[in-house]
This record gives sequence, C-alpha cells and structure tokens, in this order.
Amino acid sequence: MEKLVITGGKRLEGTIEISGAKNAALPLMCTPLLTDEPVILTNLPRLADITTLTDLLNHLGVTVTIAGGDGTGSGGRSLTFDASNIADTVAPYDIVRKMRASILVLGPLVARMGEATVSMPGGCAIGNRPIDLHLKALEALGAVIEMEDGYVRASAPGGLKGGSVRFPFVSVGATENILMTAALAKGTTTIENAAREPEITDLSKCLTSMGARISGAGSETITVEGVERLHGATHAVMPDRVEAGSYAVAALMTRGNLLLKNARAEDMQAPLDVLAEAGAIISNDADGVRVKSNGHLQGFNIVTQPFPAFPTDMQAQFMALASVADGASVITEAIFENRFMHVPELCRLGADIAVNGSSATIRGVNSLKGAQVMATDLRASMSLALAGLVADGDTVINRLYHLDRGYERLEDKLRAVGAQIERVND
Ligand code: EPZ
Repeated sequence: MEKLVITGGKRLEGTIEISGAKNAALPLMCTPLLTDEPVILTNLPRLADITTLTDLLNHLGVTVTIAGGDGTGSGGRSLTFDASNIADTVAPYDIVRKMRASILVLGPLVARMGEATVSMPGGCAIGNRPIDLHLKALEALGAVIEMEDGYVRASAPGGLKGGSVRFPFVSVGATENILMTAALAKGTTTIENAAREPEITDLSKCLTSMGARISGAGSETITVEGVERLHGATHAVMPDRVEAGSYAVAALMTRGNLLLKNARAEDMQAPLDVLAEAGAIISNDADGVRVKSNGHLQGFNIVTQPFPAFPTDMQAQFMALASVADGASVITEAIFENRFMHVPELCRLGADIAVNGSSATIRGVNSLKGAQVMATDLRASMSLALAGLVADGDTVINRLYHLDRGYERLEDKLRAVGAQIERVND
C-alpha cells in the first residue's frame, strides 16, 4: 500500500506548473461520442480518473491513441479520441462504480445512438449524489428513462427534440450532460439555472469548435441550437483551478512564495479573495498567478456555493489553512451533505475544529503535530497533505488512491519547491 510521508516545516518557494483540469477533462472526453470524426484533446492531466474514463470509452468502442505533440509544449498529454464506431451503448457497473462522472456518457450516447444504458453511479464518501436532475433534463428533450437492476436506460428512438430545462438548483454534471446532448437535438434548447463553472465554458468552447451552436455558456441561461451533426476538433483542456487553489494554500501556510504557472485568476477569484483576506499577497502575470505570504495568517469565513462563489472543491484545503491561522474561522459546506470527513483526521494532527451541522468552527492553533492519517476522499486527502507541510515531524497519509484521482505528480511538484515529501510503499 502506498503512503505519503511529509516532514513539515519547509517554506515553499518557486514555480509549480498547473496541470489540465480533471473536472474539465472528464466531460470533454465525452464529446467525441457526439461525432464520427476524431477529437484531439491536449493538456490532459495524467490522473487515475482520466484512465478510468478512457477504459469506459474503450469499452464503448472509442479508440484512444496518443496524439502528436500539440506544439504548445504544455506538460499535459495529447490524446486522439475516435468514436466513428460505437460498438456498445452500455456503461457497466464495474467501471461506473469507480468514478461517478461516467454518467456523463449517458446524454451523448442517447444523442448519437438513440439509446444508452449506464449503471447508476451510486453515492460516494461526500454524499448520496443522485442523478435525478440529469434524467429529468434528458426527459425534457424527449428521452424515455427506465430504471432496471441498478441501471438507467435512456432511449429516444425518434431522436431528441430541443426543449426547455430549468434546474431547481445548480448542478455542474447535469448542466454538462444536457449541454452535450442538446447540441444534437432537433431545435432549440434553453437551460435555465445552468452551472456557471469555468469547466462549463471550456466544454462549450470545445463543442462550438465541433460545430455546435451555443450561447450563454458561463451565465445562468444557456441556449443551444441543435445541429444535424458535429465534426472533429482539437481542444486544449483548461488549467485546473482546484489544483492551483490547493497549491496557493500551500504557499500561504508555509509562509512561502509560489508562482502557479498557467493558473488563471479569473477562474478562482473567490478563493483568491479569501487568501488575500487571510494574509496572501497575490499578483497576476502572463505566466500565471503568484501567491506569497505577508508574514501573517488571519482566520476567515467561507460558505461554499456554485461558481462564481467559493467552490466546495476547495473547502477541505482551506480548512487546513484555517487550522493554523490566528483566531477563529467558520466554514459552511452548503453543496454536499457529508464533506467534513477531513475534520477528524485534521484533529489527529492537533487541529481544533468543532462541527455543528453543515458548519465547522476552526480555532487556529500555534502548531500541528505530525501523525498517521487516512485519506477519505480526494480533496480531504489534499487537506491532510497541506497540514503535513506545516506539522512538526512526519505526517503519514494512507489510502493515496484518493489523492491520485485528482493531483498529478503531487510529491514531485511539492518537492521541486522545497517540501520534504516522499511516496513510500508499505
Ligand atoms: C462536479 O460534481 C465536480 N466533479 C465535483 O468535484 C464538484 O464538487 C461538484 O461538481 C460541485 O462543484 C466533476 O466535475 C467531475 P453537482 P457533480 O451535480 O457534477 C446534487 C472533485 O473533488 N445533485 O454540481 O456531481 C449533488 O448531490 C469533485 O473534483 C442532485 O441532487 O456535482 C450535490 O449535492 C467532487 N441531483 C449538488 O447537487 C443531480 O441530479 C451539486 O452537485 C445532480 C446533483
């Protein structure tokens, strides 16, 4: 079993290259299902979730090959996805259970093939995570939804027709699923109360380069004029704002100075505002976002909400920051019902955190003390790594597979800027 051993106390200084965004790459990798021409995605991160989705696409009959370098020299991988011959429209349980974002193949398969059967993704550590909004949106475009043996089957034998979708609350995945589907539906689709995350805008850019006719991506109302067919394209995955935000926290916690190369400030303004309030000096230049400490660390308050508000995916990382800040901080998790599993693990390191329903009150302590801790989900594992960077002594993080789902070469990137960190095999 692999573990991460971090010896705390090192100040981080230097440049970290931000990889392509996992949460942009996953929906982008479903767009090839919408066309019989090859789609090339560049700047793809090397992550377990990308491998899992590639396995699913292979199962469906999509060939995935290494594309030639995209010439930008970006660290990411370039892959060509060719879905000219879809051999299967069933996404099996043993793949979907590994990664719930597999549900994003449902809409594109129905749009292209007229039917799809996808295993229900089930919940995960951070919550029950239903897909009712995905299914209702597909029904609004004429799909017939049936549930059987833990699988959802969607069909549209007569093809999909544009319709109006109004989400009762924001859902990133449901917005992505219906955006891809509407691109091939006959007629106009309006999506109201759409997610506004940068990953939606990135997906819309890719679909538009494939010939889709979309307006309003990034706002709460998106309009899609369906087209007969989409063609191939080449698209660069946007930089990962959650990875960038995580390393920005590392810079502040270690009183360091990091240039987050390729990060885009406009993707992460809310977390950057909280970092500035907590004691960061933030500057943007052509290369990315620079975060350095002003020597103090002040508590802050956060409520997670859909973009452009503070993102739930950075909640755990900012709780690590609050653990060693002066004064008290209050963090409220308003998106997922169970996203505080990092709390008991941070407390094992000496943090002083009290949870009351969906809010946690964190009283900053002078120092944390290294210990054995266990990763429970992706962002919680990053929270523990951040705490380990400042804890006295060694922090050992178990169940690294959580971390490897969303952070590419974490130990290499941190070691290169001064961290004492290594991956060991039990
Ligand atoms: C995406 O998940 C991200 N994953 C999550 O990142 C992120 O936390 C989340 O958006 C919110 O920003 C990917 O992009 C692959 P939602 P998604 O649909 O689409 C409820 C990470 O750490 N809901 O916006 O699944 C849901 O339970 C991951 O990288 C329904 O009730 O999130 C949640 O409470 C974790 N019915 C809320 O809405 C539905 O049909 C928001 O979920 C869909 C969602």
